[in-house]
Amino acid sequence: MAIIKVGKDDLKTRDSALLELREYFSGLEAAKGRQITFSVRTYGCQLNESDSEKLCGMLESMGLKEHEGESAADVTIFNTCAVRENAEDRLFGNLGIIKSDAKNDKDMIVAVCGCMTMVEKNVDKIRKSFPYVDLVFDPQHLHLFPVYLRDSIRRKKQLVNISADDYIVDDSLVPISRKRKFRALVPIMYGCNNFCTYCIVPYARGRERSRELSEIIDELQILADQGYKEVMLLGQNVNSYKGSNGEKFPDILKAASEIKGFSRIRFMSSHPKDVSDEIVEIMASSPNIEKHLHLPLQSGSDRILKLMNRPYDRSDYLKTVHYFRKLVPEGSLSTDIIVGFPGETEEDFKETLSIVKECAFDSAFTFQYSPRPGTKAASMEDQIPHDIVTERFGRLLELQNDLAHKSNLAKVGKTEEILIEGQSSTAPDILTGRTMSNHLVNFTIPDALKIPGKTSDDYEGMLCDVKFTGARPYSVDGEMVKLK
Ligand code: 5AD
Ligand code: SF4
Repeated sequence: MAIIKVGKDDLKTRDSALLELREYFSGLEAAKGRQITFSVRTYGCQLNESDSEKLCGMLESMGLKEHEGESAADVTIFNTCAVRENAEDRLFGNLGIIKSDAKNDKDMIVAVCGCMTMVEKNVDKIRKSFPYVDLVFDPQHLHLFPVYLRDSIRRKKQLVNISADDYIVDDSLVPISRKRKFRALVPIMYGCNNFCTYCIVPYARGRERSRELSEIIDELQILADQGYKEVMLLGQNVNSYKGSNGEKFPDILKAASEIKGFSRIRFMSSHPKDVSDEIVEIMASSPNIEKHLHLPLQSGSDRILKLMNRPYDRSDYLKTVHYFRKLVPEGSLSTDIIVGFPGETEEDFKETLSIVKECAFDSAFTFQYSPRPGTKAASMEDQIPHDIVTERFGRLLELQNDLAHKSNLAKVGKTEEILIEGQSSTAPDILTGRTMSNHLVNFTIPDALKIPGKTSDDYEGMLCDVKFTGARPYSVDGEMVKLK
């Protein structure tokens, strides 16, 4: 399939749709005598978060404001995830909830985009059971959202616009409304060629395609000049980056770390087959690259890894882990693990438990295997009964919770730099942030360090030193000792 690069000219149609929509919504605002609002609900991974920031950017340039409060927004977009069945169920549940609002207000717009729209059965279900959804469009053509929105408003009938071109868009051509004032999400590549047998992503997001290195570096420089403290380089397989002049991921990492202004450079997600010694060495030697590696393991059994089409084995994986632990001793390691893949025996599962112990992951995302129609694994024999999966999942969780707690306990007594993310969700006078190793920290500010007139939210994006006083399973407690 050809990779199509969207240039400035291609976006003329989009811009004329944007203008038309501005006029339409300002008319609606006058008719209703109130501000017209939008809500973008995001499911799934950071790449979806990044797409949602672009949707928000486009909606704001139509003159809409983000919705606050309980009632429904005038425009609601569901940016969906198809990786596991429960994310799909949540969408259908939420579409059910919005039904009466959508039926009562003929001007209200409901749209669905994201990975679920690339699975035919989901689109059929929306067509049949959710006729009040105005628009369904695929994630590859996100930049053309204003064109689809305009057309669906003109048509007054459900519009489904799904095609599978491997588009790549220069992000500087799409308005972006960043959710966090300190963190910039920067996709560097899209898609996946790996076809792990359980995974829907290669079907939903197409083949791997990388942005130009010069384009990425220009964007990073602008973000640094704008004062962003943290940048997150994103890709379904971020380490498979391939620039058109043969540039590889280490070239991006080095170039990003040389830009002045970023305190934290992060990247997600890595495939163990692509994490070279060189990447670990750059992480170890660059002060502004986060000391955290997310390295999805999936299973500790070589037999299951083969069935999953993951081209590494236990010993390859452990080699990378040991090298990382040796070169970045203060760093942290996280992973993704699937429990109950077809054919997984008790012996296979014990291999997973043993490698988890050996790696001593600082944190982990653990999942129960969810068959995705159309993938190889979904039609494999020997699907594991639900009760066995749940029982194994419980054992893994117990082990991992203990490891995470130990990792947090090891911080107690130390003082480290924290990038403040804002007010904690549990208490208004407690701030939350992360260490360079991505440990989550909740901390207090002594009165002497409080800036007069500032609320907790105003500290978002600032750096400070925090002394750690206690540990919980998922976070560390502390007290600020210096604001920077
Ligand atoms: N079932 C359960 N977990 C899955 N993941 C991907 N596909 C599935 C599936 N079918 C998990 C993998 C991946 C993470 C993003 O989601 O662990 O790394
Ligand atoms: Fe899915 Fe595997 Fe690609 Fe990750 S590498 S997106 S798990 S197919």
